[in-house]
Amino acid sequence: MTVAETFSTNRLDAAAPPTLDAGSSLIRIDNVSKHYCTRHTRVEALAEIDLDIRRGDIFGIIGRSGAGKSTLLRAINRLEPIDQGRVLFDGIDIQRLPPRQLLAARQRIGMIFQHFNLLNSATVADNLALPLKAAGIKNRHEIHRRTARMLDLVGLADKSAVYPAHLSGGQKQRVGIARALMLEPDVLLCDEATSALDPETTASILALIRSINRELGVTVVLITHEMAVIQQVCNRVAVLEGGRLAESGPVWQIFARPQHPATRALLAPLTLALAEDIRERLSPHPIGRDGQALLQWSLDGSEGDPLSLAALADRFGPEAKLIQSRIERLQGHAHGQLLIAIPDGTLPSVTATHPDVEVLGHVAASV
Ligand SMILES: Nc1ncnc2c1ncn2[C@@H]1O[C@H](COP(=O)(O)OP(=O)(O)OP(=O)(O)O)[C@@H](O)[C@H]1O
Ligand SMILES: [Mg+2]
Repeated sequence: MTVAETFSTNRLDAAAPPTLDAGSSLIRIDNVSKHYCTRHTRVEALAEIDLDIRRGDIFGIIGRSGAGKSTLLRAINRLEPIDQGRVLFDGIDIQRLPPRQLLAARQRIGMIFQHFNLLNSATVADNLALPLKAAGIKNRHEIHRRTARMLDLVGLADKSAVYPAHLSGGQKQRVGIARALMLEPDVLLCDEATSALDPETTASILALIRSINRELGVTVVLITHEMAVIQQVCNRVAVLEGGRLAESGPVWQIFARPQHPATRALLAPLTLALAEDIRERLSPHPIGRDGQALLQWSLDGSEGDPLSLAALADRFGPEAKLIQSRIERLQGHAHGQLLIAIPDGTLPSVTATHPDVEVLGHVAASV
């Protein structure tokens, strides 16, 4: 059974999987500011944030610790009141809703957390039933039907009667996801949902989130400190720094051409690190006869078709040697860096015709 078949049949839009960047606005953050006051200080947690999250997006929010990510996410379902601006959810001003309508709007917004937030004294099935009961759905047959369906969706059909303490971290997060989807929300908010999980479990949870997005059309807003998570699942990303929006846009663009220093710092672990043995031998000056120049060439995703080896030889000459490389393919765009050694003698002509290469230094012939 596919994810879409498992989700309710009365969900009309489930049949149309979203296409990247094609959706209309679902969540509009309009000039939102929010501060916290502690005894001695005032913290501007969010300052004049403008963002548009489209239907069908898997929208990443990144930023250093304390940048305001959780506050922003919690403003979307009004877990956090804001000082100024508007949060429009499907055109509805969430901050101004009276309690009953707020409850109804929140049922369209599921949320999952880093530490799962499951009720330990309740079985998996009872955890899943909680949002239904809170929404006034009391029919036991209906509760059982939806619970079984959601457990099937997240691959835990045999864990219905188990208590959370007997589940692994990945299984707990699957229960968290199932619970968040019980009311068939339009959007799933994920605050560091994979941070407590090992890499393999992270990958399986990300695959589940992606299939929920693609097959059910659930929009996802996802906070993470792991840039690889953004690369793997998000189509758009926003970078927060000190409560302000540093930049936002399609992941491939932001990752290939980060404009803000905060983004560059966050992405630094993804950039090519020169191997230690080469760095130790690198000289700023040509070495002399048989010396090699070390060049770094950055692909920013604008190259179009995959890079042909012939094009590389054209660019750097037939004696060029590929020393290190890191190339990722994001949303159909290749980006990354190549480290190339060429004979010092050919350096002037290469840099004259290709000024976009960076000369890192010079090494002796045997790189
Ligand atoms: N309840 C609160 N009372 C006072 N200050 C708060 C409160 N919640 C958050 N803050 C402050 O607001 C700022 C933004 O916090 P927030 O939790 O949104 O950051 P974050 O980007 O989610 O950080 P992290 O990556 O560590 O989770 C921080 O300076 C934080 O200390
Ligand atoms: Mg946080």
